[in-house]
Amino acid sequence: MKIAVFAGDGIGPEVTAQAVRVLNALDLPGLELIEGDVGGAAWRKHGHPLPEATLAIAHAADAILFGAVGDFDCDNLERHLRPEQAILGLRKELGLFANLRPATVFKGLEDMSSLKSEIALAIDLLIVRELNGDVYFGDKGIETLADGSRRGWDMMSYSEAEVRRIAHVGFRAAQGRRGKLCSVDKANVLETSQVWRDTVIAVSAEYPDVELSHMYVDNAAMQLVKNPGAFDVVVTGNLFGDILSDQASMCVGSIGLLASAALAEGTKGLYEPIHGSAPDIAGQDKANPMATILSAAMLLRHSFGLEAPAARIEAAVAKALADGIRGGDLGGSAGTREIGDAVLARL
Ligand code: NAD
Ligand code: IPM
Ligand code: MN
Repeated sequence: MKIAVFAGDGIGPEVTAQAVRVLNALDLPGLELIEGDVGGAAWRKHGHPLPEATLAIAHAADAILFGAVGDFDCDNLERHLRPEQAILGLRKELGLFANLRPATVFKGLEDMSSLKSEIALAIDLLIVRELNGDVYFGDKGIETLADGSRRGWDMMSYSEAEVRRIAHVGFRAAQGRRGKLCSVDKANVLETSQVWRDTVIAVSAEYPDVELSHMYVDNAAMQLVKNPGAFDVVVTGNLFGDILSDQASMCVGSIGLLASAALAEGTKGLYEPIHGSAPDIAGQDKANPMATILSAAMLLRHSFGLEAPAARIEAAVAKALADGIRGGDLGGSAGTREIGDAVLARL
């Protein structure tokens, strides 16, 4: 079990440290953790956010546990040297095209949702976000016009092949859940979305047991706060999935709770909280490590088929929350390490 641990910037090292404590506590046979530098931290040390040595560790590993990257001091660097290129580069380099972002309300936490408790209680959804295409990876640039002003562009595109493979992930996920798939696009305006919608409909012929619906992304943003319980699996593109998953986190109660898996065709995966490096609270023992701890559970389940220890971690987190262990993001005062202690005690 070779697991690469890339902690990154800001709160990344703080939350990753707690997830590593949890992994170590499970006494898993053959567990080997290999650390690597990513993000602004890697740029400072090696002059690049995703150094060759880190990439080599990523290729050799069975799975990757990722903290967060992002450092406001690096925001004026050329785009290819910015911390965010580490995570984008890993996703592309390793073919991690399927991003699973589950959002479920924990019992007793419904009062922390930005929604009314009775609405929040019904949330049990999975966002399947395409991660290798869209406006993220298209041709982009900035040009200076004759009058000296600038114009920027980013090309949005999806090929049928790209949509087909993520659609299959969405349909299969729905089969394993409540059998409902909602495809989110902007086909009323974007040609990219027309190809997306037509392709999802074509793939649906192979899944007669899944109820497929379509929704424009603006309506989806509205329905997600109006009646989130109506969603089972949502399949969508890279940009829409990024935005809707942050929104879903506040329907659940905090971005410090949402884990994710970025999967390739095989069992290899990268696992990370959906949040970023949170520079505003970094280095203060204020970050909630639960999203990263839950990402470690997803890692055990998806990359190693270890359902029992994964479920144990999830139960320990749920128990800690039910017992009132809450960080600042959930209106409490427990510190990052203290939350780690609480989860370990219940494990
Ligand atoms: P963010 O997710 O880092 O923070 C948003 C807000 O949520 C902040 O107020 C922060 O304090 C809070 N927050 C986030 N995680 C938390 C946690 N675990 N516990 C408690 N509170 C938490 O988003 P941002 O501020 O827009 O971005 C900061 C940096 O992170 C940027 O450089 C951005 O590019 C980067 N980023 C990286 C990733 C990633 O590595 N995958 C994801 C998102 C953003
Ligand atoms: C995420 C982040 C990343 C994204 C950034 C840091 C590149 O927001 O993982 O949600 O946009 O995918
Ligand atoms: Mn995001």
